[in-house]
Amino acid sequence: MQLQTRFNSLDALLSKTKAFWQLVAFEAYDLPWSGQLNAWLMSLSDEQVSQLDNDPTQLQHALIAFIPELAQLNSLLQLPYQKRDVMPLPFWLSNGIKGRKLLQLQDFVNHIDEQQLPVLEWCAGKGHLGRILAFNGAPHVHSIELQAALCEQGRHSAETQNLAMTFSCADVLKDDTRTCFEPEQHAVALHACGRLHQVFMANAVQAGCEKISLSPCCYHLFTDDSYQAMSEVGKHSTLALTHSDMKLALQETVTAPGRVAKVRKKEVTWRLGFDALRRDITGISEYVSVPSVNKAIFSGSFEQFCQWAAKQKKVVLPRECNYELYLQKGQQRKKITDRIELVRHAFRRAIEIWLVLDRALYLEASGYDVALREFCDKQLTPRNILIQAKAKDKESRCAR
Ligand SMILES: C[S@@+](CC[C@H](N)C(=O)[O-])C[C@H]1O[C@@H](n2cnc3c(N)ncnc32)[C@H](O)[C@@H]1O
Repeated sequence: MQLQTRFNSLDALLSKTKAFWQLVAFEAYDLPWSGQLNAWLMSLSDEQVSQLDNDPTQLQHALIAFIPELAQLNSLLQLPYQKRDVMPLPFWLSNGIKGRKLLQLQDFVNHIDEQQLPVLEWCAGKGHLGRILAFNGAPHVHSIELQAALCEQGRHSAETQNLAMTFSCADVLKDDTRTCFEPEQHAVALHACGRLHQVFMANAVQAGCEKISLSPCCYHLFTDDSYQAMSEVGKHSTLALTHSDMKLALQETVTAPGRVAKVRKKEVTWRLGFDALRRDITGISEYVSVPSVNKAIFSGSFEQFCQWAAKQKKVVLPRECNYELYLQKGQQRKKITDRIELVRHAFRRAIEIWLVLDRALYLEASGYDVALREFCDKQLTPRNILIQAKAKDKESRCAR
């Protein structure tokens, strides 16, 4: 399917189903949907909710009865994924790279391997990716990174390992890095967040880099609250994504260890309980978030938590307060928010693919052949989408 056809179909589907995903669960006191869906959600036990949340296929099947559009989603979200054999790296090269990260890097390199063009590595961290590319035969790697300590470590490793690499310490959101991009270059960005990879794409396109490869992540970071589409097609969408929607794209169910999940459940319940109390005291109904706090506070009592939270929000608590009642309200609201989130979660990959297609269309309109694929198994990282762009025509690039 062509990128634009796919984008338009997905955009229309998301637009039609907005009422199911474009809402902030914490703000709701009741389930906002039709009687049948609400009744089904409330009939689920908490265990069934978390079971469905951990099984996207089952969740989608269950929800199709209430949201028939979900039946068309699968074909729009499929990306090719081909497991490739990974060549083992020498110990001295992989030393210091943690297990899962190493497997991600090896899978990424397997898809973008570069032996002809010099590479620009964007937001490189310690330059692990660049070092593997240089070892595999890239003629030179230029790694750009914000943190001086990471640049220094990367530089030191590359030097001792005799790899053709240079590092530049730069803030890519403030410093002018445009001169680092060249037409005869493969520009690579693995997991650069939000605005960081958008600047990367704009610079690479402007310089006319021959190849551009990126795996985007954290779409909301360093960006405006209202999403600014990159492609012309995206600019015509009426979805008007916010940070909350963009964060939905990242909410993968990582099953937390039992104790962590228990504390998290208590934390959310207490926060919602305090919010109900604050609402009754101040008469302001919008959800007001309370800053994050050391988890030790959740081994105390709900009353102590409310006193701390009231201080943060400058709310005066009454002398007599039925904390037990507000704890129950917190529990009820947690039940509601969990069920709203469950429905929203059926759309998370759809939002991510929409954002990825917006980027792909931007590159396509800038004169590139663009391919999308998954570069590794989802278990290694849910941010496993690779956008690969190859310039169509050298002359038009150089004239840019
Ligand atoms: C998620 S890490 C990815 C690192 C590496 N590409 C990888 O996949 O292992 C993001 C990196 O971006 C860097 N970074 C964040 N803000 C930046 C900025 N404004 N300019 C340059 N680098 C930045 C961080 O220091 C961090 O090393």
